[in-house]
Amino acid sequence: MKPLINRKDFPATQNSTYLNAASVALMHQGAANAVIEWQIDLRDYGTLHFDELAEEKIYDDLRLMAARLFHVQPEDIAVGSSATELLASLAWAVDVNPGSNIVSTEVVFPSTIYPWTRVVKDSRSEIRLAKGKDGYIQPDDVIALIDDQTKVVCLSHVEFGSGQRYDLKKFADAAHAVNALLIADATQSAGMLPIDVQDSGVDVLVCAAYKWLCGPFGVAVMYIAPELQSELYPGLLGWRSHADMWDLRANRLRLPDTAKRFEFSTLAYGSVIGLTQSIQYLLQVGIENIFAYTTDLASMLIKGLSERGIEIMSPQADDERTAIVAARFPGKGSAEVAGYLNANNVVVSQRGEYVRFSPHLYNEPDDISKTLELIDSMEINFEA
Ligand SMILES: Cc1ncc(COP(=O)(O)O)c(C=O)c1O
Repeated sequence: MKPLINRKDFPATQNSTYLNAASVALMHQGAANAVIEWQIDLRDYGTLHFDELAEEKIYDDLRLMAARLFHVQPEDIAVGSSATELLASLAWAVDVNPGSNIVSTEVVFPSTIYPWTRVVKDSRSEIRLAKGKDGYIQPDDVIALIDDQTKVVCLSHVEFGSGQRYDLKKFADAAHAVNALLIADATQSAGMLPIDVQDSGVDVLVCAAYKWLCGPFGVAVMYIAPELQSELYPGLLGWRSHADMWDLRANRLRLPDTAKRFEFSTLAYGSVIGLTQSIQYLLQVGIENIFAYTTDLASMLIKGLSERGIEIMSPQADDERTAIVAARFPGKGSAEVAGYLNANNVVVSQRGEYVRFSPHLYNEPDDISKTLELIDSMEINFEA
């Protein structure tokens, strides 16, 4: 297996064996530089280099890049500070009436469902979560929860704990059959696996920057299907919400007709430029290549772990697997194993009773070998 990229693009690869993209990926060098340079320029020149027109146009390049990533139009993209913030504003924008329901899974990332918790309290509706078995969700169990009263099916495209991947089209069809929306959180998928939003039928897709997109904290993007854009009245409004943001009159507000209406405030603008750079880089490498490469690394890891009697919780079917590998170590607690690996410079996460490994494009087969060797150096009581 040949390396996919030049590791110089990710200088932090020198500091550790980093298998933690599902938590925070290593940041692309160009992205990090862009953030820092922007801040330094602001420090040194203030609005001299960052005038009102520049502030107005600051999201344009990111919209373009995100549109390429998802195969949509730039007008379909909104930029925000975090996936959670965009989801919160969106949740308040959807018309959820008493007696209706929102469908998701019990293993979904909290931010994907918490915003709806507040909405259902207000509207006397309910949240229905499909139950899993050992972290695995049977897709048909989600679909079985959908009925005529369902307003929204809100899922993580890839589950953060197990790495289970869903067929968005299947859920879009089921949601649309009852006039519900499919809202997908692509934070654990975009940048690792190809997403064609139009083919998937998804209505809204939200994504954070600092995981598989190798971008900085402080920025996120959201796709909104064209037919919904002028219908949704965002939950969060602010000075940037006005179609002419420099109008600055408190007595009038006209929202843009595009996804842009979800942009409402000043944000860490340097991060916006950083994310633009990292998406551009990933697109050059090719998302299909990244998916093939990272799942090969995951296969190596799964093979090595299985040979050692370590139980793999992540689905392994071709249509459900990803680069996320969650494993249970018999006889050892996940905190203990993750603690040992991290203390020895192999960076992973503990999630519940599992240790989660998440290699990305900057990893190499040698990282997997090193990880397995380190696991061999642990005293594991497999009989316990
Ligand atoms: C699926 C998913 N959505 C959202 C988030 C958090 O996004 P943000 O930090 O941008 O709010 C995470 C973080 O782990 C996640 O796994």
